[in-house]
Amino acid sequence: MDYKALWEEYEAFKARGLKLDMSRGKPSPEQLDLSLDALTIADYIDDTGVDARNYGNLEGLPEARRFFAELQDVELDECIVCGNSSLELMFHLVTLSARQNAQLPVRKWLCPVPGYDRHFNVTEKLGFEMLNVAMTESGPDMDEVERLAADPAVCGIWCVPTYSNPDGYVYSDATVQRLAALTAANPNFTIIWDDAYKVHHLTETAFTVANMLKACKAAGNPDRAVMLCSTSKITFAGAGVAALAASSANVKRILAYLADMIITFDKLNQLRTVRFLKSQGGLEAHMRKHASIVRPKFDAVAEIFEQEFRECPGIAYWSSPAGGYFISLYTQRGRAKRTVQLCKDAGVTLTAAGAAFPYGIDAQDYHIRVAPTYPSVEELREAAHLLALCVKLSSQP
Ligand SMILES: Cc1ncc(COP(=O)(O)O)c(C=O)c1O
Repeated sequence: MDYKALWEEYEAFKARGLKLDMSRGKPSPEQLDLSLDALTIADYIDDTGVDARNYGNLEGLPEARRFFAELQDVELDECIVCGNSSLELMFHLVTLSARQNAQLPVRKWLCPVPGYDRHFNVTEKLGFEMLNVAMTESGPDMDEVERLAADPAVCGIWCVPTYSNPDGYVYSDATVQRLAALTAANPNFTIIWDDAYKVHHLTETAFTVANMLKACKAAGNPDRAVMLCSTSKITFAGAGVAALAASSANVKRILAYLADMIITFDKLNQLRTVRFLKSQGGLEAHMRKHASIVRPKFDAVAEIFEQEFRECPGIAYWSSPAGGYFISLYTQRGRAKRTVQLCKDAGVTLTAAGAAFPYGIDAQDYHIRVAPTYPSVEELREAAHLLALCVKLSSQP
């Protein structure tokens, strides 16, 4: 590579005073505009006669519960419809796990890596020692999960089964079966099944993952998994509806815990959301509109990467997700931090290198999370170009 020419190109980028942020997976304003009709509602009585304006129904408005039970393919009494954040629910679930395992001198949690930084923050805050497990294209390395779960201190695992954050991988049936049937030394081993991107397809193929709750039931571990989803990336980010699915025994236990904290979740928002989405078919049609906005952005990044790295194979590779919100870019070992810093100095902010790993430590310093949804296609092209340039520069011996 002609590093002198590359540095000149970099200085030219710098001189342009770019200011782009590709650090967080946020929907773009155009995506948010798709749901403006969800802001208004003419009614406040759900189709079973419940008044959404009042206290009651901690488990969720019946009409909304039906919608989310159907979405998650579970029984009505296995579903709770909650507030505006699935992450908040996960914080509560991990708190419950910490309580269940209070007698253990050390509590540990399995973290497929790279993964979602906020998951790792939750387990760290709540005092769990985090153990990395490598992600593969079909889910976490199950041999490693099985080996680690033989330790009774291991209380659970984080999973983003559909279009995982950040690689965009989809868990295979075999992974689901092995997790459901896992011989865990800890009887309260919990699978947090965060299906945040369940319906966020970007191609004509809607990849689906086997139902973890059903798999756990069939494997004789009915209380092992809690499945979560939310409409944060369907309607409004942080102003949508989160729902949870679990065995009816777990639903009772979770409701008993929540009852001391909240009288009811925002049922008006639940009603607005499900009336807007209408049905599973309505949801699918709505997600196709998202895809038509998001797909060109993912394509733009992939196209630039292909162009830019064609001449220098081996210095980077990247994931090509069929859905979700992120692309993972892998540099040579020991080059990610430097790449992110070079980008920052030229005006493009990326997620901090290492953020997708517990404690922010990417031991190989090779992963960069790219979040293409928020910037415009033009901005993305520029940012991807600069990013590729910075990968090349940081690979300079
Ligand atoms: C895997 C995953 N789970 C959960 C969330 C947050 O969801 P919510 O807004 O429902 O808390 C995100 C947001 O980026 C995510 O990527």
